[in-house]
Amino acid sequence: MSGAGSPDFFCREAQRLGYVARSAFKLLQMQKQYKLITPGASVLDLGCAPGAWLQVACQSLGPLEKGGSVIGIDIKKVKVPSSHCDSRVRAICLDVMNLLRDQVKAMSPQERGFSVILSDMCPPVSGITVKDTALSCELGARALSLAIGRVLLPNSAGDNIAELSDNNTDADTNEDGVLRQGGNLVIKLLESEDNAAFLKFCKQRFAKAVWLRPKATRSSSREIYLICQGRRAVGRCVHGGLQRAVASHWSPTAISLIKSSLYKRRAYPPAVSSLRVESVQTMEVRMDEKWKLSRKRGGGEAKRRSTAESLSRRCGSLVREQRAKFYIMRRCVVMLLCWRD
Ligand SMILES: C[S@@+](CC[C@H](N)C(=O)[O-])C[C@H]1O[C@@H](n2cnc3c(N)ncnc32)[C@H](O)[C@@H]1O
Repeated sequence: MSGAGSPDFFCREAQRLGYVARSAFKLLQMQKQYKLITPGASVLDLGCAPGAWLQVACQSLGPLEKGGSVIGIDIKKVKVPSSHCDSRVRAICLDVMNLLRDQVKAMSPQERGFSVILSDMCPPVSGITVKDTALSCELGARALSLAIGRVLLPNSAGDNIAELSDNNTDADTNEDGVLRQGGNLVIKLLESEDNAAFLKFCKQRFAKAVWLRPKATRSSSREIYLICQGRRAVGRCVHGGLQRAVASHWSPTAISLIKSSLYKRRAYPPAVSSLRVESVQTMEVRMDEKWKLSRKRGGGEAKRRSTAESLSRRCGSLVREQRAKFYIMRRCVVMLLCWRD
């Protein structure tokens, strides 16, 4: 193959134009279509090695006198490429899964956060679809939570899975993200039915959120980019509506896979899972209860208490039932993944 769209074409073009990897063309296409990085922007590039996005991001900042900065982070050591990059670009070797929002904010200009966050992070491909997808989902969710603050992942069954949250995000006391209001976010994910939850979630938090499969993506790859533009002010997100919208889209399989700590045990030894999973359904029940209670204020204390008790009994049994289902499903998946002939 030799035409545009073939892997050879983009490799050759990257070499010819001085980019360190063909991935440069993915960000170039995003820039052309969405103008994510404006002159003088402050850019955070998660998973930046070998540095092609650093090059494109720096070019997009415009001339040096316009200012701006690009901070790249990768679990691998990365040297800032000499071509297309200038003194505004810095690369740091760190595991994003272990980073706290305060630490990331401290890296931004005047500690005011970033105007653009790019995540091209992906786990080493194992070839086991379900495992690769779960790991990519975890990296994507970490990028999202660094950008916009704590991410609540509801499940479709509506059970209480709050106890599955782990210790890493408990240390992340900064509830707000490091993406400035009006800022743009790009997240790479592998195609999966669970991606609909990402999209719905981001549509509530950004003025615009769309999928893009860049032309430079290899035909064998399942990667897809979520492009989010114009982060809304925190107070302007409709949480209840958002959570209800997402609740029906996050499959129990995805959550149990993520929480079975594949990441910790099998893929990247130093990484720590950092997703906080909370029960959105439980929050809705509480909200509904409050709403009902406020409407029934004149209806008597006893009736109110009995409604609340029966609700909490029903929730309790739902939680137990779903927890058992989760456990069985998780064991099955772990057995399948550990299967050796
Ligand atoms: C496809 S490459 C990025 C290519 C880059 N955008 C470019 O254009 O040169 C994905 C990168 O994500 C990095 N990565 C994966 N997991 C990471 C993690 N937990 N923390 C930081 N970087 C990670 C990998 O080391 C790898 O370099």
